Amino acid sequence: MFEKGVYLKTYGCQMNSYDSDRIIENLKPNYVPVEKPENADLVILNTCHIREKASEKLYSDLGRLSLVKEKNTNLKLVVAGCVAQAEGREIQRRQPKVDIVIGPQMYHLLPKFLSKINEKVSKKIISIEFPEESKFDKMSAVRTIAPCSSFLSVQEGCDKFCSFCVVPYTRGSEYSRPAKDIYKEAEILSQKGTKEIILLGQNVNAYHGVGPNGKSVTLAYLIEYLENIDGIERIGYTTSHPNEMTKDLISLYGNSQKLNSYLHLPVQSGSNKILTNMNRKYSVAQYIDIIRKIRNVRADIAISSDFIVGFPGETNDDFNQTLDLVREIGYAQAYSFSYSKRLGTKAAKLKDQISFLEQKKRLLELQELLNSQQKSFNENFIGKKINVLINRKGKKSGQLIGTTKWMQSVHLDLDNNYLGSLLDVQILTAGPKSLRGKIEEKK
Ligand code: SAH
Ligand code: SF4
Ligand code: F3S
Repeated sequence: MFEKGVYLKTYGCQMNSYDSDRIIENLKPNYVPVEKPENADLVILNTCHIREKASEKLYSDLGRLSLVKEKNTNLKLVVAGCVAQAEGREIQRRQPKVDIVIGPQMYHLLPKFLSKINEKVSKKIISIEFPEESKFDKMSAVRTIAPCSSFLSVQEGCDKFCSFCVVPYTRGSEYSRPAKDIYKEAEILSQKGTKEIILLGQNVNAYHGVGPNGKSVTLAYLIEYLENIDGIERIGYTTSHPNEMTKDLISLYGNSQKLNSYLHLPVQSGSNKILTNMNRKYSVAQYIDIIRKIRNVRADIAISSDFIVGFPGETNDDFNQTLDLVREIGYAQAYSFSYSKRLGTKAAKLKDQISFLEQKKRLLELQELLNSQQKSFNENFIGKKINVLINRKGKKSGQLIGTTKWMQSVHLDLDNNYLGSLLDVQILTAGPKSLRGKIEEKK
């Protein structure tokens, strides 16, 4: 059969990366990936709606792609992901060259939609429902993309409705995949060379899928269950909500050999007033207590977070409380963002929106503090020998990059034969974003 070329661009979070791999796997053997839209018969943009800038990026890319489509009139253009879900028909109004708009829960139907469009049965398709059946059950279970560190979505959607966030609207309500299906997928990935699995969910620690005995199980249970797969050496998970850090998950850090020493636990703000207005439903003291309990069982854990600065009504005093919290916790890594007003969310209606300049000033100050913390966390590793999973190529030839179980990137001068291996590495230097090391011995 004649193969067509597909070019797929992924924006946004790890769940989108996972979905993109599944979309590509599900389009095989009819379509094979190509490197450039100019060489493609099908272009898919898997989009993100989380902040205004992320959404606007879609329309500038669509402008450029419409020129490619003018030259190649057979090219089919698909917009998938969270902007597709949020804006639906509006996308085709703004860019009529888009053939299909498809939401995150409908990807299993993409091959069928493409044949309708290719056979000119339909002119345009919009599919943004939240169906009863899960896309995971309907997509082929065969995993062909299995890098040494692989993402695996176990939970989707969110019922938390933080006042700033679009995710509950773009991904729908919480759904957890059955543990057996996840185990099967992890086994396939492991047979194909995966050594580390990062379990994904917008609220991954709210996981409550059906366990092997037919009863609902927790994320801690799922992690222990997956530890039985021999080839899987490391397990991580992201993103967690502080209110779902259950006792069993915390104590797992004391028992588990395979669980990474890294926890991304977004706090968003260090002010109780702002946390209440964000609808986060925990206090600063409760957050600190969770971190304390985890450090009691695993002292060296790398703590990471997300922060939003300039949320409506955030005073200098509120912002200073965020800086205080950062000093108290000591982060190994973090992501920080200026608040972005999203239509349809509760916070968009709040008074006292903070000016762009003030947001920028606060963001820089926070980032400076976080950077210095990241640097000192990493500097603790200089001179130590640590285990590194070599998972990608560096910018220059002869350079590879790996990750530690604290999720730091380590740059090494090594040839490509080492890709995919777990090595003991001597750490030579450290900066805020990465480490540099040399290889000691092959494992
Ligand atoms: N489920 C995760 C977060 C998913 S979104 C959690 O609850 O923590 C990833 C991050 O994007 C959020 O943690 C938040 O810091 C940021 N974010 C979400 N909406 C935003 C907005 N409107 N403006 C700025 N940052 C936002
Ligand atoms: Fe968004 Fe809050 Fe849900 Fe995270 S928990 S995805 S921030 S609504
Ligand atoms: Fe973006 Fe959707 Fe992920 S809005 S952050 S791609 S869940």
